[in-house]
Amino acid sequence: MRTQVVIIGGGPSGLLLSQALSRQGIESVVLERRSRAHVLGRIRAGVLEHGSCALLRRAGVGARLEREGIRHDGTLIARGDRAVRIDLRDLTGHSVTVYGQTEVTRDLYAARDAAGGTVLHDVADVALHDLDGDAPSVTFRHEGRDRRAAGDFVVGCDGFHGPSRQAIPAAARREFERVYPFGWLGVLSETPPVDAELIYAGSDRGFALCSMRNANLSRYYVQCDLSDRPEAWTDDAFWDELRRRIPPAQAEALVIGPSIEKSIAPLRSFVCEPMRRGRLFLCGDAAHIVPPTGAKGLNLALSDVGLLQEALGRHFSVGDKEGIDRYSERALAAVWKAQRFSWWFTRLLHRFADETGFDRRLRAAEFAALCDGRAARAAMAESYVGLR
Ligand code: APR
Ligand code: PHB
Repeated sequence: MRTQVVIIGGGPSGLLLSQALSRQGIESVVLERRSRAHVLGRIRAGVLEHGSCALLRRAGVGARLEREGIRHDGTLIARGDRAVRIDLRDLTGHSVTVYGQTEVTRDLYAARDAAGGTVLHDVADVALHDLDGDAPSVTFRHEGRDRRAAGDFVVGCDGFHGPSRQAIPAAARREFERVYPFGWLGVLSETPPVDAELIYAGSDRGFALCSMRNANLSRYYVQCDLSDRPEAWTDDAFWDELRRRIPPAQAEALVIGPSIEKSIAPLRSFVCEPMRRGRLFLCGDAAHIVPPTGAKGLNLALSDVGLLQEALGRHFSVGDKEGIDRYSERALAAVWKAQRFSWWFTRLLHRFADETGFDRRLRAAEFAALCDGRAARAAMAESYVGLR
């Protein structure tokens, strides 16, 4: 088959790119390894920056987000018995919107279906070819047949484990990585959220996060050991641990119920440079991973897509190459800002096994600076809402 842009991966990056391109009259096909049900079964973060919301609206997938997204004007950061509210609205003039990645993905599938877009599921053996020439292509197996998709460009939206990044010769890319020595144990429960806003809590026992999906669906996390197994954590053990790590008032108010999902996610910071090789571009998790503290992963993926769809639009409409030539540099500037913030926020609230007394004192001082200084809160708020 022949198209303009071959997109590998049908997560939020690949689907939004395909949708945004089609709004500009540019054809694409999306090749996804898993079934649609599998993609929609993944539970991921759910905090959207205003720039992400604007991008989704421009791509024609903002209606349900507008109706069902919950606007958050602030977030609470707690350590021990002290807590500070970061008033996002007051400090930056912006808010964030709580709307699950699953819902974003569902809206994108609906939009691709409505526009007659091609999204092939359950494709296997995806391989990339001739990226340095003018006629790149992707071969794959689908419904028992070997097939080839040829296009003007190939975009790797295939997540951290996909083949696209590996198609850039090792000598032509640099990878930067930090793996954290702990994970997040997450629980989803059909209970009302403990607070109207998110609570990020650090304690001597480790990090905890109180988040939500809607008025009767809560998402909670506690920092855990990487060797832990989710099955070994009973619901009672989870709720007890969460209560010990969040401020006393919220611990008392917490409404508990049976978990409907329980899983452990590792934490990683990762960047691949550059994000382009010839006619291949990388978007989202294929090029970078941030630890989830601060919820930058999805926002960063969408911001890559925003840059690339505009660059490809200008290339196809007026032959302007500046956008595609500078895509990697521009995307990476945003990536490193988000890396810095996610690393800082992770360090502020997590317990590290090898930390010294000096590290603990520094962390306490960093938290005090946030509590006592408006400028420190403003800097945090600007990063959180996606201004810098
Ligand atoms: N062939 C085709 N598709 C593939 C292949 C392959 N070999 N390997 C992976 N994929 C698909 C995956 O099945 C997945 O659906 O690529 C998709 C990548 O989706 P995501 O991992 O969700 O990555 P992305 O779309 O960039 O979204 C970034 O996801 O992980 C979170 O924090 C991250 O929220 C952010 C968002
Ligand atoms: C979530 O709701 O899953 C969530 C929210 C904020 C984060 C991370 C995850 O920083």
